[in-house]
Amino acid sequence: MSAAHAFPPPRFEDPSVFGHVAVLMGGSSAEREVSLDSGRNVLTALRARGVRADAVDGIPTLARELQDKHFDRVFNILHGNKGGGEDGTLQGLLEALGVPYTGSGVLGSALAMDKIRSKQVWLSLGLPTPRYVRLSRGGDVHAAVRELGLPVIVKPASEGSSVGVSRVHQASDLDAAVELAARYPGELLVEQLIEGDEYTIGVLEGRALATIRIVPKGSWYDYNAKYLADDTQYICPGLDDAGEAEARDQAERAFAALDLRGWARVDFMRDRAGRNWLLEANTAPGMTSHSLMPKSAAAFGLSFEDLCWRILESSMPEGGAR
Ligand SMILES: Nc1ncnc2c1ncn2[C@@H]1O[C@H](COP(=O)(O)OP(=O)(O)O)[C@@H](O)[C@H]1O
Ligand SMILES: [Mg+2]
Repeated sequence: MSAAHAFPPPRFEDPSVFGHVAVLMGGSSAEREVSLDSGRNVLTALRARGVRADAVDGIPTLARELQDKHFDRVFNILHGNKGGGEDGTLQGLLEALGVPYTGSGVLGSALAMDKIRSKQVWLSLGLPTPRYVRLSRGGDVHAAVRELGLPVIVKPASEGSSVGVSRVHQASDLDAAVELAARYPGELLVEQLIEGDEYTIGVLEGRALATIRIVPKGSWYDYNAKYLADDTQYICPGLDDAGEAEARDQAERAFAALDLRGWARVDFMRDRAGRNWLLEANTAPGMTSHSLMPKSAAAFGLSFEDLCWRILESSMPEGGAR
C-alpha cells in the first residue's frame, strides 16, 4: 500500500487513558451469536494492548452496571436493530447518561440501520444505489416488480446478515420472498438485483480502507456463506488502483452522507459494466474470524489489535492527543 494511503499514527499510546471499558456484546437481536463471537475477539485484542476491559452482555445489563459507575466508556460490538445496539437507541441512552462510546451516534446509527432511508439520503446526493420500491406490509409486490422489472432482491429494511433476504428471478417466487422478509419487523424493500460482483469496504475515522471482492461458492452471499461455509473466497484489495480509488471515494462519501463516525463497513455491488452500486452501511460490523472489516484494515497494515485500538479511540473526544 503506498504511503499516500497510510493511516496517521494512533492518537493515544497509553491504554490507561481509556479507563475501564465495557465491551458490549450479545444482546437479543437475531445476530446475538455473531456479536458474542465478535465481542470476545475485541475483548482479547484490547486486553492484549493493556486496556482494562470487560464483557457486558446486552443493554439492560449495561444500564445496571453504568448506574453503579463500573465503566468509563463502551466499545459497542452489538449487531442488530430494535434495541440490538446498532440502531441508535443504545446511542441515545449513552448520550443521555453522558457515557462515551465507539462508532456512530444516534442519527448515523439510525439512518444506516434503515436501508430505505440510507438509500434516500444517498440518492439525494447523487450517490449510486440500486433502484427500489418501499413495500409496506400487505403492499403489492407485483406492482413493485412491474416498476423495477425482474430480477429483484426482497429484504427486510432493517435486518442484517442476509436474514430474510431473497433473490427473485421469477414472478412465481415473489410471494414466498415477501413472506420470508415479512417475518422480520419493519418495512420491506424490493430492490433491483445487480448482476455482477459483490464487494465490501471498511471505513475507519472517515477514511476508506481496501475493498474486498467476495466470491461465494454458491450463487450469492447468504447467511450460510457469511458465517458457516469455509469456501467463500475473499480477494483484497478487490480492484485495480483506479477502481480502489473510486470505491474509496464513494465509500467515504456514503459514510459522511449518513453522518457516520468512527468506523463502518460499506457493502456494494459492481455491475458487469463496472459501475458500483451502494447496498448498505454497517455501523458495528462483524469482528469474527470470518469478518471482512479486519481483512479490509489488514490491507492497510492495521492488525486486528490496531483496528480495535483505533475504534476505541473513536470514543475519545475529537481533537485529543495525537
Ligand atoms: N441489489 C442487490 N443486487 C444483488 N445482490 C444483492 C442486492 N442487495 C442485496 N444483495 C445480496 O444480499 C446480501 C444481503 O444484502 P444487504 O443489503 O447487504 O443486507 P444485510 O447484509 O444487512 O443482510 C448481499 O450481501 C448481497 O449478496
Ligand atoms: Mg450486507
